[in-house]
Amino acid sequence: MEQINIYSGERIISRIFVQEDVAELEKCLDRYPHVFAVMDSNVAMNCPAAMKMAGIMNRKGVPGKLVDASEETKTMDTVMDICAWLLDNGADRDALVLAVGGGVTCDMVGFAASIYKRGVRFAYVPTTLLAQVDAAVGGKTGVNFDRYKNMLGIIRQQEFTYICPQVLVSLPHREFTAGVAEMLKTFIIEDNGNYQKAIDVLSEMSQGYSILPQESAADYWSDCVAAYTDELMYLVSEAVRVKAGIVSRDQFEKGERRKLNLGHTFAHAIETLAQREDRDISHGEAVAMGLVMAARLSDRVFRGDMETPTETEGSLAIDLCDCGLFPQCPYPVEEMAEIMSKDKKAEGGKVHFILIREIGEVVSYALAVDEVCRLMK
Ligand code: GLY
Repeated sequence: MEQINIYSGERIISRIFVQEDVAELEKCLDRYPHVFAVMDSNVAMNCPAAMKMAGIMNRKGVPGKLVDASEETKTMDTVMDICAWLLDNGADRDALVLAVGGGVTCDMVGFAASIYKRGVRFAYVPTTLLAQVDAAVGGKTGVNFDRYKNMLGIIRQQEFTYICPQVLVSLPHREFTAGVAEMLKTFIIEDNGNYQKAIDVLSEMSQGYSILPQESAADYWSDCVAAYTDELMYLVSEAVRVKAGIVSRDQFEKGERRKLNLGHTFAHAIETLAQREDRDISHGEAVAMGLVMAARLSDRVFRGDMETPTETEGSLAIDLCDCGLFPQCPYPVEEMAEIMSKDKKAEGGKVHFILIREIGEVVSYALAVDEVCRLMK
């Protein structure tokens, strides 16, 4: 089993295990005497590997709870519901709370465990590509509040994250590609030759899907994900390695970790606007749009040409489309301005935008939002 660590100085503070299937999860849980599992109900119903995990939990006598995980239910109410369930089931300070689900489930369960009895241990089995490469690594937990994304939360490291591509076979194509946006983001930050490798693999996977009739596309996709297990394990491990390195150097986002927000200031504004008008744009889809907007801003800041179509923006948009994403933002940047200025990373009226110098090199730039609007016209 491959192991990638997150460090604080010399000390390992979180372990990420990457394994082909869920079988080794049982061993990972052996060291914890009192485990409590919280699973996304959608995963419980649709993911074949969830049956295997349920078998492991049964053998270990682990109490389980299902949650409805969506951006709408990612609230303090759900967190308090999880805490109440832990209390009812006698969870003590030695408990390990295991989250099985996508990013929303991991964020909520991690937050609930972080405040329950002033903090108990928690671990994740991320079941979406997005959670595997981003949300379930690095210790960011939290919920949405007052119409703003992830406004309440804490950075606290999970004991371990157990990643396996087996859980991805039941993930719909749309959700899979949402994770592709976060994976490509990671390789834009630190490349090591993986950006192009990811584009090659993911566009090859996506090509077959896009030409099939709707009825057979879902089966094709599931087989396709299974057939690309080795490539996915490699790419996910590489993305996790990049993120684990950054978090080890800057756990609490004082500097380098800000790079992981590439495209996210735009993405959060897009998500907030979409939620207001009940438009269906997922986090990963908003990140894809945010990446293209960040690329445009980068071109305008570094290359300065306001007339011609910008080069980083153009090539990134093509790459994302090839991988099955539609990165065209439906909102003008002026409409996003008010939300971006409330970004939780804003300091002294300026927001830290992450700009792309080239694939593998990004830099943080503090810019006033009205300046950004002017540049991006
Ligand atoms: N999702 C960005 C981070 O974990 O820092």
